Amino acid sequence: MANADQIKALIKSHLKNDGERFVTVALQVAATEAKQGHTALARDIRRIIDERPNHQVRVISVSSELDDLVTLENTSGVSASFVVRKDLQTKLDRIINEYSQAEKLKKFGLSNRRKILLSGPPGTGKTMTAAVLAEKTDLPFFIVQIDRLITKYMGETAAKLRQIFSLIRERQGVYLFDEFDAIGAQRGLDNDVGEMRRVLNGLLQFIEQDESSSLIVAATNNIESLDVALFRRFSDVLHYEKPSLDEVETLIKNRIGTFTGRYRLEDVTKYAVGLSHAEITQACDDAIKEAILSDRKTVSKTSLLNMLADKKTSYGTMK
Ligand SMILES: Nc1ncnc2c1ncn2[C@@H]1O[C@H](COP(=O)(O)OP(=O)(O)O)[C@@H](O)[C@H]1O
Ligand SMILES: [Mg+2]
Repeated sequence: MANADQIKALIKSHLKNDGERFVTVALQVAATEAKQGHTALARDIRRIIDERPNHQVRVISVSSELDDLVTLENTSGVSASFVVRKDLQTKLDRIINEYSQAEKLKKFGLSNRRKILLSGPPGTGKTMTAAVLAEKTDLPFFIVQIDRLITKYMGETAAKLRQIFSLIRERQGVYLFDEFDAIGAQRGLDNDVGEMRRVLNGLLQFIEQDESSSLIVAATNNIESLDVALFRRFSDVLHYEKPSLDEVETLIKNRIGTFTGRYRLEDVTKYAVGLSHAEITQACDDAIKEAILSDRKTVSKTSLLNMLADKKTSYGTMK
């Protein structure tokens, strides 16, 4: 049940006609319920809020102090085009399953896994994974803009981190700390080495201490730079790689869709090896654009091969 303060705040905001405050408190009630393992009730409350008729306040600002640091992202349909290795899929399914049955686990004093570290090269689907988790759990998806935390709020990062983690408690969601090791990586560039280290350690401490009902996802391109000790703070560590031949084929097939021509994709896939999921997706889009602009209904094999080759040379990923 909602606590006494929340009930009072709901009544007050209603009487003051403060719709935004009302919604904020209602979302806090949802987070409180979720924390107690009442996943379904929390979801119902969020859904009622999402579907309320007054659309003007449909996009609830994250919180006035965090507007530029935590952004609410769209996730609809993202999982349909997600191509992922089987072992990673299994781990993701387990996270989703434990989340949706959190109440059952709670009865036995156990909690669902909800702190996840993703590592791997750029463009292999780490950000996308966080969006997929949000879509599958029906939770809102927030990205914490770490670079802004550093560039704009240097010197007051501790206060900002505290605000971010209180948001994580009060508003259940999937929170992505993307390229969070950037804090560490910029150390060399910054004069204030000590401050950077404090920020990174502060963030890791907050993650460790967090007992909210939100899912926390941290992503890094550069796991070697991280201290192994920090892995313990996460319930899962998922390693991403560039796509295998089979995955390349699925990616191209999905992306080219109705633009597929009369040739075997197998003849194309091997030329994409070494490219990331994102690069292959972009090459497909480039080939589709070319077809559209030259009034062709399908993507030709030559065009697709050219676009893939283009990605290889422009990014220097050719092996
Ligand atoms: N595993 C994947 N399956 C399908 N598309 C992908 C995948 N990985 C990346 N993409 C495509 O590339 C884009 C960028 O990927 P992203 O998730 O941001 O990569 P990362 O966070 O690992 O750098 C995605 O929006 C998507 O279009
Ligand atoms: Mg990313």
